[in-house]
Amino acid sequence: MKDVLVLGIESSCDETACAVVRNGREILSDVIASQADFHEQFGGVVPELASRMHVDAVYPAISKALSDAGCTLEDLDCVAVTYGPGLVGALLVGLSAAKGLCEVTGLPLVGVHHLKGHIAANYLCFPELEPPFLCLCVSGGNTMIVHVSSYTDMEILGRTRDDAAGEAIDKIARVIGLGYPGGPKMDKAGQGGDTTRYQFAKTHMTDTLDFSFSGIKTSALNLINGIKQKGEEIDVRDFTASYQQNIADILLENTLKASEATGIDKICLAGGVSANSFLRKTFDKAAAEKGLKLYYPNLRLCTDNGAMIASAGYFEYINGARNELDLNASPSLQL
Ligand code: KG4
Repeated sequence: MKDVLVLGIESSCDETACAVVRNGREILSDVIASQADFHEQFGGVVPELASRMHVDAVYPAISKALSDAGCTLEDLDCVAVTYGPGLVGALLVGLSAAKGLCEVTGLPLVGVHHLKGHIAANYLCFPELEPPFLCLCVSGGNTMIVHVSSYTDMEILGRTRDDAAGEAIDKIARVIGLGYPGGPKMDKAGQGGDTTRYQFAKTHMTDTLDFSFSGIKTSALNLINGIKQKGEEIDVRDFTASYQQNIADILLENTLKASEATGIDKICLAGGVSANSFLRKTFDKAAAEKGLKLYYPNLRLCTDNGAMIASAGYFEYINGARNELDLNASPSLQL
């Protein structure tokens, strides 16, 4: 069968990322222009500035992705692009670039849901992985357990009712002065720390696979204020280790419940927070104890990248999906 080459374009937040992927599984190039260092001075992503930086970065990233892959536009079969969810101005830059390419070349356009991209990152790392499986999607804006029944069909079994796990981590990282981006900094700060030293209130919901992270976040804020009021110092290493462990435990609890309820023993992690070492260790241990098959992407593919969009786009493309050139950005796109 003829190879299918997909150019993937991602610009939903602060990474301008383009990649060429063969047959949904093999990365031929993977270009990521991150703005994280720039936004650090503001303590978070400034949407207007992110959009402008995407404008500067998107065509150089596309050119580099093509040249790194050793191909030209004529070699491609389709252009896949994130059209939501994300920051509307940022999404529009990648989407407009993709539409421009499709208009000029006649290539088909395939719009990709950002989270389907994160899930597909696992296909790039594990050539043998096939649906059905459960996927815990944990990113800056989302926390959900998804039943992936096929490469293109999925159903949300549980989701956060308030904050995403990534937000709960980023917020506390900022409060204790670790800066932006909080997730990787907190992960580093907690290495070797005592995961049981600090206790946090956790929300347990019965009869649902939904999550809530606002309680643990408030509990951490109260603990920090209490320690400061007593004139004491927070032990940052133990505090961040305990906090991340608590979050990992909450995520594991519902994922195991979902596995029991569905009888599915194949579990993937996806999204930026799946890079978290506490989360990975917690799931590794549980998988070994319970005989579950566990998959998570390599660190580079956990956070936003174009290869995952190309992979998800490939599966949509071979399933017949095509979008018209009036496709618009959808900041709150549902799975
Ligand atoms: O999936 P992602 O790159 O972007 C979207 O939100 O779609 O996820 C970004 C999130 C941020 O909250 C970031 O702090 C978090 O992933 N993150 C981490 C780690 N690396 C990135 N959180 C915890 N530990 C990490 N090592």
